[in-house]
Amino acid sequence: MHKSLEDTHGRKASYMRVSVTDRCNMHCTYCAGEGCDFIPHSNILRYEEILDLIGMAVDFGVEKIRFTGGEPFVRKGFADFMISAAARFPKVDLCVTTNATLIGDYVERLAQAGIRRVNISLDTLDPDKFTRITGHDLYSTVRANIDRCLDAGMNVKVNAVAMKGVNDNELPGFIKFATTHSVDMRFIEFMPVGLDTGWKDDTVWRAEDILAQARELTELIPVKGSEKQHGPARMFTISGGKGRIGLISPYTNHFCATCNRLRITSDGSLRTCLFSDKVYRLRPALRHPKLGLPTVERIIRVASKRKPMGYELLAHMPAGQGVCHTRMASIGG
Ligand code: 5AD
Repeated sequence: MHKSLEDTHGRKASYMRVSVTDRCNMHCTYCAGEGCDFIPHSNILRYEEILDLIGMAVDFGVEKIRFTGGEPFVRKGFADFMISAAARFPKVDLCVTTNATLIGDYVERLAQAGIRRVNISLDTLDPDKFTRITGHDLYSTVRANIDRCLDAGMNVKVNAVAMKGVNDNELPGFIKFATTHSVDMRFIEFMPVGLDTGWKDDTVWRAEDILAQARELTELIPVKGSEKQHGPARMFTISGGKGRIGLISPYTNHFCATCNRLRITSDGSLRTCLFSDKVYRLRPALRHPKLGLPTVERIIRVASKRKPMGYELLAHMPAGQGVCHTRMASIGG
């Protein structure tokens, strides 16, 4: 292994998120916003290029890769690509974040290929509200595909963006869901990322409030060593339940100090912080006949040195505007 990738705050990159497309078949209010200009296909990294980047990242200490979108499964051949990535990097923890509308037919093959972890976005347990949030009447498809993943032995995390006035009246239902299903039901505080998402400070359903409300409904037992194992999520088992509850609080209780992430956008740029619009273009070097991966690695090293502390950017956010203007749909969370 080469030298690990460490930034000026002593943070080591061990986790890389790779967005394979900026396109999505849903239009969630908090994520897409209006006016989507999609990246032209020629600027999207080819699968072989992504595999090369993963190989390089593994060499500098990345142990976990998460594919994101947009929605990864809208990209042609994504399931086969993921299966080939699993075969080429058997030691790497490969996971995917999906809205689970299109994964259905691939679940068993993915599980057989060793892909054991999926994160599924589901912000409500009310079918009508699901349609209002996402713009698509696909609630029952998503619920069926969650069951299919569980049946295939996958470890399923369900992510709900926690929004006041949207899903803050559904905690009893979510707890019941996590009691009867062996999922990690995680609430992510609504983040001020992107434009036209309707974000305001008072639309954030705060992690502390969720926890306090949940504790009135059920007995929650903190999972020890939760931070190490579950990244930024604080996890709790539900007394007598199959699943668990998790709280992710990027807004009220940042976890910048332990951020171990790099993000690769679908058009081949590096983003070092979710809360910054700053990107470092890797694609030109990657496609350059004489430069290639060594130059890409140099750019990533320089960029990592400059990786900001996102909470400082959040603290200086202009009132009423998001902290960064890129659509979450094209960053991949
Ligand atoms: N705030 C919090 N979470 C978000 N996600 C998308 N947009 C936001 C936002 N503004 C979540 C999605 C998905 C993950 C990739 O990011 O629900 O689960």
